Amino acid sequence: MAPHPFLAPLFSLLYLVSAASSEGRYQQGDPVMLYVNKVGPYHNPQETYHYYQLPVCSPVNIRHKSLTLGEVLDGDRMAESMYEIRFRENVDKKVLCDMKLSPQQVERLRQAIEELYYFEFVVDDLPLRGFVGYMEESGFLPHSHKIGLWTHLDFHLEWNGDRVIYANVSVRDVKPASLDDVRGPDPLSITHTYSVRWSETASERR
Ligand SMILES: *[C@@H]1O[C@H](CO)[C@@H](O)[C@H](O)[C@H]1NC(C)=O
Repeated sequence: MAPHPFLAPLFSLLYLVSAASSEGRYQQGDPVMLYVNKVGPYHNPQETYHYYQLPVCSPVNIRHKSLTLGEVLDGDRMAESMYEIRFRENVDKKVLCDMKLSPQQVERLRQAIEELYYFEFVVDDLPLRGFVGYMEESGFLPHSHKIGLWTHLDFHLEWNGDRVIYANVSVRDVKPASLDDVRGPDPLSITHTYSVRWSETASERR
């Protein structure tokens, strides 16, 4: 399916309010759902959007998580992601999806990266935050900057017994895909990938 254009009315925002949320207990190989949540400019935490409003990999049918009242009041908008994480199973490098970005979608991403958009995912009630892209500004005239999109994410999770204790997402060893020279009419082909690394921790608590 073609990627959604930004700002299109993607889905009706219907949330169910559930009373309880609890962290899971897992056996090796059990799916650990990663939810996508918000995106927004880093310098304005009040301004948030649904992650799937950006041109990113999204499932054909978007399924929202039922949220607790507190989460609803926090502006959470959790929906299932396409990342496949299984308890204590490492993933080396897996394709999340291939996309052909229209010039409008590239422009939308470029704007988001210029505004230092961060994203928030949630795995087992733990928030994971990272930036959508990378920007490098030169202080010299003529003013210029380089803009890149993170197309690979490394997830790290720590487990103890049958629980997830800690999780983070990083792009430390990743090169961003440059959006600098893609101003023509042609779509830009990109492939989003991810890896998952589990390690055992002695800690039993979060
Ligand atoms: C992410 O988690 C891994 C594994 O626990 C850890 O080695 C790494 O330092 C963490 N990275 C950050 C930026 O906290």
